[in-house]
Amino acid sequence: MLFAGDDRTEATIPPQVSPESLAQAYVRRVTHALEQRDRWRRAAPRWRIHQEFVRALTAPVSEALLAAAKPAPGETWLDVAAGVGDPAVSVVDRVAPSGRVVMTDLVPDMLRAGRDKAGDRSGGLLPVAAAAEALPVKSVFDGVTCRFGAMFFGDPPVALSEIRGALAPGGRVVFAVWGDREQNPYFTEIDGALRDVIPDLPVHEPDEPHVFRYSPSGKLSALMETTGWVDVDELETPLTMSVPISAGELWDHTVGLSVEVAGMVEELGADRAVELKSIFERRVARYFPDGTMRMPAVVRLVLGRAPN
Ligand SMILES: C[S@@+](CC[C@H](N)C(=O)[O-])C[C@H]1O[C@@H](n2cnc3c(N)ncnc32)[C@H](O)[C@@H]1O
Repeated sequence: MLFAGDDRTEATIPPQVSPESLAQAYVRRVTHALEQRDRWRRAAPRWRIHQEFVRALTAPVSEALLAAAKPAPGETWLDVAAGVGDPAVSVVDRVAPSGRVVMTDLVPDMLRAGRDKAGDRSGGLLPVAAAAEALPVKSVFDGVTCRFGAMFFGDPPVALSEIRGALAPGGRVVFAVWGDREQNPYFTEIDGALRDVIPDLPVHEPDEPHVFRYSPSGKLSALMETTGWVDVDELETPLTMSVPISAGELWDHTVGLSVEVAGMVEELGADRAVELKSIFERRVARYFPDGTMRMPAVVRLVLGRAPN
């Protein structure tokens, strides 16, 4: 058993599922989890370097998420898959001075980078390395935030049950996941540019861990309803990501943050990498109307509550 929190019994297994397909599903879950841990471990030093960019880029997402979650002074919150500290550090401001935020992530180096940057807020932050599928505490939190983490869970049903179990009765959760692919050029433009030079780039399966895994409307909320959440709701949230950078600087951050993109760029060799960068800059030019980035995005906020 990879996840300590995986306490499903035969009673929870639908009778029509054959032992073979259960075994295959189990192998797939474990494989995804191990791949994710390796992938994010390798990404952590990159996220440390580009932390300020990520915070600036996604500031409107944190704002919308906090407006939906409404953390209040004195409360105790959990931020799952916290990465380098967003939105954990913003939640600290809302629960201060006596409230606390526990931030958890699969990768300790992500949490270290978050705490190192938290400055005065670090007193309100408690970093704990843990998989969402095996959270160390039960029935304590007033609320949970999880921004851009759910799509990478190795076992989403187990993670959703664990997160629900970490909440006090009636506690609330807000997940932020990316909305429709077509409405998120931050990802589709780099993907399009890469496909222009590497046409046989693989396509992700809908249920593989991937940025757009929960972009279909209702997909994450349906899963929440089957894992014991109540008052489940979705808010489609359009926003504009405004950062004072050039298209060339966006390229540097995009390659800098992603182990996969950086690997592909390296394999292309110097000349084709220059060609790829200029294809990317041409594709994104319209999002730099006056030399600074203004890119639309759509985020899906998925809300729920643990039963009383
Ligand atoms: C895209 S980053 C998001 C980080 C941060 N919440 C943000 O919005 O900037 C995804 C994070 O999820 C973490 N992660 C992936 N799978 C996880 C799991 N099963 N349990 C806990 N964290 C996980 C990764 O280590 C990574 O830090």
